[in-house]
Amino acid sequence: MNSEKQIEELRKLFPVTEHWTYLYNGSIHPCAVPVKEAMQNYLEKWQNGGEAAFFKAYDDFTQLKEEFAELIDAKTDNIVITESTTAAINLAGHLIKPTAQQNVVVTDLAFMSNTYPWLAGQLANAEVRFVKSRDGKIHLDDLVDMVDDNTAVVHICAVTVGSGYRFDLAQIYDITSKFNVSLMIDGAQALGVVDINIKEIPMDFLATTASKWLMGPAGVGFLYMDDRYLKATPPSVGWLSAKNVSDWNVRNCILHDDAMRFQGGIPNLIGVTGALAGLKLLKQIGREFIESRINELTTYVIEKLSRLNVDIVTPSNQNERAGIIFFRTPDYLELHARLKAENIYCGCFQEGIRVDPGFYNTYEELDKFLSVVKDYMTH
Ligand SMILES: Cc1ncc(COP(=O)(O)O)c(C=O)c1O
Repeated sequence: MNSEKQIEELRKLFPVTEHWTYLYNGSIHPCAVPVKEAMQNYLEKWQNGGEAAFFKAYDDFTQLKEEFAELIDAKTDNIVITESTTAAINLAGHLIKPTAQQNVVVTDLAFMSNTYPWLAGQLANAEVRFVKSRDGKIHLDDLVDMVDDNTAVVHICAVTVGSGYRFDLAQIYDITSKFNVSLMIDGAQALGVVDINIKEIPMDFLATTASKWLMGPAGVGFLYMDDRYLKATPPSVGWLSAKNVSDWNVRNCILHDDAMRFQGGIPNLIGVTGALAGLKLLKQIGREFIESRINELTTYVIEKLSRLNVDIVTPSNQNERAGIIFFRTPDYLELHARLKAENIYCGCFQEGIRVDPGFYNTYEELDKFLSVVKDYMTH
């Protein structure tokens, strides 16, 4: 078991612990002190120096790409900083551009931003095939049945947002490479907890946000793309897309030879400074430590919940889940209200309760949560 003393120290980085038993870390991760300080520092520099604040923040933007690339074992050249996971998915979608003769394979455990781009808007040309989940999981055979020679892309969430089901990405990659179709992963509920390594699983695209397990602010996202898209025509272009920008020649735009061509204007600099601080904190604490701590906490919650007669949707097998536990009870809204009344912050949707413990949560906090659920189920 991880030392509770070490956790006590780490908790000091999260002032949210003074206000809430916060168990919704996969939604909006609470701001850590160094993340706040980085953003505050930027604001002070901007307030006192105007443009002078830009240069350091722009360096942070470059460093943010480097840190993210290191996290997933990719090259910086292949990373685009976006405004969100959704923007990253849409950019990737434009590079894939499914035609009316093709199909896109998604699952019913996806988040809305994984399916809506193919259902409405400019990318909505192809047939959208939904793999149906069974028992909170996607069974590989069901996915294979949906893929054929006309599949443009298989797009899944590495860890699904509702049931918390975690895919074996190596198995998915085996399928997509066998059919020679593109693979796009949404890593928003995985990265920061689960290891995703591009060298081991050379997917086409990986889209994510800074704001969940990467501990940064909302409004910053990332897109990794495979080398073969680096020379693609960007759906939108701006001054940062061009390698000849310093010529100040408005009649001639020579696009960068890497993913930089997909950047348009100045990114969200305050967000960038916070996202960088989040990734640095993650590195400092150690992703492996975080993963093992979260595994311990989620296993504890699942074991205790399973004795309380609630309907646990999340698979119990540790390899099939990560940071999210989702369960249903009769009148879940009442349970959610009771949890909130005890200052316990959880998610509440799809007729159930979602609880995502972070590494800084304690067993005492989990026991407090479990006792409210127990009380609710027995009275
Ligand atoms: C799996 C997943 N993908 C995407 C998103 C949306 O992220 P963004 O707002 O950065 O587009 C969420 C948000 O909860 C999510 O859980």
